[in-house]
Amino acid sequence: MHFKLMSVVIAFLSVKLSLAHSGFHFGWSGSHGRNGGISFGLSPQFYQFSCPQANDIVMSVLERTIAKDMRMAASLLRLHFHDCFVQGCDASILLDDSATIVSEKNSGPNKNSVRGFEVIDKIKSKLEEVCPHTVSCADIVALAARGSTVLSGGPNWELPLGRRDSRRASLSGSNKNIPPPNATIENLLTFFKRQGLDEVDLVALSGAHTIGVARCATFKQRLYNQNGNNQPDENLEKSFYFGLKTMCPKSGGDNFISPLDFGSPRMFDNTYFKLILRGKGLLNSDEVLLTGSVEKTHQLVKKYAQDEGLFFEQFALSMIKMGNLRPLTGFNGEVRKNCRGVN
Ligand code: HEM
Repeated sequence: MHFKLMSVVIAFLSVKLSLAHSGFHFGWSGSHGRNGGISFGLSPQFYQFSCPQANDIVMSVLERTIAKDMRMAASLLRLHFHDCFVQGCDASILLDDSATIVSEKNSGPNKNSVRGFEVIDKIKSKLEEVCPHTVSCADIVALAARGSTVLSGGPNWELPLGRRDSRRASLSGSNKNIPPPNATIENLLTFFKRQGLDEVDLVALSGAHTIGVARCATFKQRLYNQNGNNQPDENLEKSFYFGLKTMCPKSGGDNFISPLDFGSPRMFDNTYFKLILRGKGLLNSDEVLLTGSVEKTHQLVKKYAQDEGLFFEQFALSMIKMGNLRPLTGFNGEVRKNCRGVN
């Protein structure tokens, strides 16, 4: 009986070792892949043997790109968010329209808005030269989001890897699951809870709006007709409000852009939270973290405005949590050769 058990354990361990060397990792804790019984977790060491240069390659492309276009850091961070909230972090957002794919790129939240696809292509083609058919597009997006945060002055974290790429996209999922900028606090929490994320994750991850910009169309309602009475949002600080009106006219100008954190738009810091406390958050979804009906989110905005270290720590934890949303692992999905199409 004991002998039988021992041989099962030994057989299992040898499978585990051989799969680990071929690029698979078993995880007994952390995120769970969709593998009917066996759990293949993500692991920071996933490419340790198969592509040890992966992160260096990502960082070298990012450094050159961001030196020329600082906003790209923000765009890549957002790309990971819009990927993970739709069928998990599986690079579904990168798929172009084709005979079998209806692209998420044309969803309401993404169209004329999400950027960074060419940068992901560049990283992918460098990685294909060095370690062919090894690093997934979903992991590239996650690595680019972390690298962009670091290069903007934000926190670093140990990033679990081993996501595989989906063979399908979901335009309807993209329209349904990404929260809109005019959301109430209740809406925002519903969107986040659907993904298994809580109030702390909502406030910390909203802190990504410390970098990047938003189009006039996404905050116009606050300036001209917040509640259907042709009045501005009364929570907007007056000088901020007048400044925004010059950038964002009542009619037209929908694609004019304003910084989400006008205090330090290129720097990943806690100014975003300080501005919210002064009525200078750009989007309604930023504002309601403080003025909505949920006391817990008010307290968190105040804490992160006071303590940048605490914000950085929680941002890193929540990014790991978001990055672990429903990954494809093990035998599910594939490693795409070209991030824009299935193999
Ligand atoms: C809480 C709910 C959220 C809402 C309603 C929201 C909404 C928006 C909107 C409307 C824009 C401007 C898009 C445009 O004008 O085309 C934007 C930009 C941005 N968002 Fe969010 N967002 C949310 C959460 C997040 C999260 C969780 C992250 C990342 C962790 C993120 C990162 C960014 C970044 C970095 C930008 C600037 C992108 C650029 O400049 O290209 N957002 N967001």
